Order: sequence, then C-alpha cells, then structure tokens
Amino acid sequence: MTPTDGPLHVAIIMDGNGRWAKQRGLPRTFGHREGVKALKRTVEAAPDLGVETLTVFGFSTENWRRPMAEVAELMGLLKAYVESDLDRLIREGVRVRVIGRRTGLKPDILEIIDRAETRTAGNSRFLLQVAFNYGGRADITDAARRFAEQVEQGRAKASDLDEALFETMLSTVGAPDPDLIVRTSGERRISNFLPWECAYAELVFQDVFWPDYGPDHLGAAIAEFRARERRFGGASSDDVLAAG
Ligand code: IPE
Ligand code: IPE
Ligand code: MG
Repeated sequence: MTPTDGPLHVAIIMDGNGRWAKQRGLPRTFGHREGVKALKRTVEAAPDLGVETLTVFGFSTENWRRPMAEVAELMGLLKAYVESDLDRLIREGVRVRVIGRRTGLKPDILEIIDRAETRTAGNSRFLLQVAFNYGGRADITDAARRFAEQVEQGRAKASDLDEALFETMLSTVGAPDPDLIVRTSGERRISNFLPWECAYAELVFQDVFWPDYGPDHLGAAIAEFRARERRFGGASSDDVLAAG
C-alpha cells in the first residue's frame, strides 16, 4: 500500500471536546482549546499520508443552540487558529477555504475568513476546508435558491439542472467528494455534515475524543479505508473476473 491508494479527500467530524474536558473536571472550553492543537497535528500529518484535501467540521448551523459563552469561545478559536497558523499554512502551500453560511457571523470573523482565503488563494499543494457555520441541509437549500434565482432571472431553465450543475451551487464546488469521513468520540452519526458530498464516502468511527487525536489515529483511519472495497453501485471486481 502506498499513499497513492487514497483517500485523497478526508473529512473529519472533530467530536468529543466537551467530554474530554468533563473527564478531567475541566470546563468545556478547555476541551475546545486542546482540540485546536489536535487540528494542527492532523493538518500537519495529512499530506505525508497522501491526503490532498482535508475538510474539518468546526461549527455547525445547529451549534448556535449552545450557551452563548461556548459559542463565543468557538468563534474566538477560529480567529486564534488563523492568526497563529496562517503564515505557516501559506509557507506550506495550504489553500484555506471556509465553507458554510456567512450570515450570522460577526465582522471580525468575516474579516479573518476573508484574510485566510485571500492570502492562501494561490496555494495548490493541499486544500484545507473548514466547515464553519456549516449545515448540509442549509447548504443544499442555499444551492437550490441560487438555481431558482437564475431561473427567475431567465439565465437558466429548469431542464438545465442535473447533478453536475447542482454541485456548482454548493459551497464545496470544485473540491472532490470526500473518500473517507471520520468521526471521533464514539458517536455514530453524520450530524448534517456533507450529506450530498458523502454519498459514496467510506465511514470510519473512532473511539477517541478529538483533543487526543493525532497522526497515528489518522493513519489508522486511512488503513481501515484502504482495507475496504468501494463499489459505487457496481459489482465486486472479483465477481466480475469470476463471471468472465
Ligand atoms: C466537538 O466537540 C466540537 C464542536 C462541536 C464545535 P463537542 O463540543 O461536541 O464535544 P462533546 O460532543 O460535547 O463531547
Ligand atoms: C458536530 O458535532 C459538529 C461539529 C463537530 C462541529 P455535534 O457534537 O454538534 O453533533 P451532535 O449534536 O452530537 O449530533
Ligand atoms: Mg459533540
């Protein structure tokens, strides 16, 4: 097995910060701060494992339901992450893209997102997509609205719509679909993460809280991916050979 066996695109639901902190008798915010360190370790390790695109779930459209102080902490961490790591990301050829709704985000957060995207726009070695204020259903709804607007304005016809065109309206436009979706913390659900894009992704659930995550865990998830057979609705390659 070599890194060329994929997965080229890994998407991670970074879950378990709160439980990690609780286990230690600490406030949840401590878990989120440790989670940022895990993110840095994982981003650094991914290219050496053959990964070209990494998408991480940082804040969901449903996470606004959390206490205001926790929401503020999560917003602040995005800012702190970009401020401390942007120069390194630029040096290492990482292009940063933030996917999700911009509405509802404060001006300082919008500014930091814009800075990260603009300053890394010329990079092509690695794509880091941060899903922030992201919800899959919200993204699909926004895409549908964009297409409806085009029809309303006479720039498109309903019969123009196919999967390829619809994908260009999603916030993930241009990125390949994830090959592998990882969720940490032991929860076995998708929680509205990339529902369109993950149609044929392999799912790996790891029983580790996100703040403890690192290169070895990512390596193990990738090894599990490589042991799977993806069929995309076709027949198993062994069966096709046997059938002649
Ligand atoms: C993941 O950890 C981080 C975000 C959702 C932003 P959680 O905060 O969900 O941690 P648990 O699931 O409560 O342990
Ligand atoms: C998903 O985790 C969102 C992020 C990791 C940012 P949650 O912890 O919010 O999901 P649920 O509530 O357990 O489904
Ligand atoms: Mg959680």
